[in-house]
Amino acid sequence: MSLKIAVIVGSTRPSRVGRRIADWFTDQVSNTPNVDFTLIDLADVKLPFLDEPGMASTQQYQKEHTKKWSKLIDSFDGYVFVTPEYNHGYPASLKNAIDYLYNEWARKPVAFVGYGSLGGSATLEHLVPVVSQIGMVPLLNTSVKVIDVWGAFDEEGNFSEGNLRGSSPEKLMDNLVWWAKALQKARTN
Ligand SMILES: Cc1cc2nc3c(=O)[nH]c(=O)nc-3n(C[C@H](O)[C@H](O)[C@H](O)COP(=O)(O)O)c2cc1C
Repeated sequence: MSLKIAVIVGSTRPSRVGRRIADWFTDQVSNTPNVDFTLIDLADVKLPFLDEPGMASTQQYQKEHTKKWSKLIDSFDGYVFVTPEYNHGYPASLKNAIDYLYNEWARKPVAFVGYGSLGGSATLEHLVPVVSQIGMVPLLNTSVKVIDVWGAFDEEGNFSEGNLRGSSPEKLMDNLVWWAKALQKARTN
C-alpha cells in the first residue's frame, strides 16, 4: 500500500525562505518508492488563530476551515514539518495549525526539517514534547538541518550542500517510511 506524506511549510511571513526549503526537500525525495507527497503551505491554508469553542479531541468542529483542515490532515500517514527557528522556538503559525486538531495527527510519525543560523536545533527540541502530547511519533534522530540559511541558496536558486547538517533528506525519508508503514498497519488492525 502506498503512503501519503504531507510536507508542511511552517512559516508564513512574506519574505520567508521556508517555502524554498520545503520545495528543495520535496524535490530531493520525490522519487521515494510508494510515497505520494503533498506540500501544504500554511500561508495558503490561512487558518485564523484557533477559534473553535470545543476541544479538538472531541472533533465537534463548528468552523468550515477546521473541518477542511481536519479532513486534509486526517488523510496522511506521516508528516514532515519544515520549520525555522524564531527566538529559539518555532513559528506561532505552526503551533496554531497543530493545536486545531488532535486525533487526526495521532499515531502517525513526524519528521523535521529545521533551518536557521544553527539549523533550527533549538526549535526542533521544543517540538518533540508538543507532538508527543498529541500522540505523534517524533523522529528527531533523522532531522535535516540547514545552517546559515540566508546563504543556503545561490543566485540561481540552487541549494548549497555545504549548509546541510544532521541527516540527509533520503535518510529522513527512510526513517519516516519505516514508521509510517508500521503505524499504518497498526492503525488498520
Ligand atoms: C522573529 C525571528 C526570530 C529569529 N530568531 C532566530 C533564532 O533564535 N535562531 C536562529 O538561528 N535564527 C533566528 N532567526 C533567523 C531565521 O532563522 C531566518 O530568518 C529564517 O529565514 C526564518 O525563516 P523564514 O524565512 O521561513 O521565516 C529569526 C528570524 C525571525 C524572523
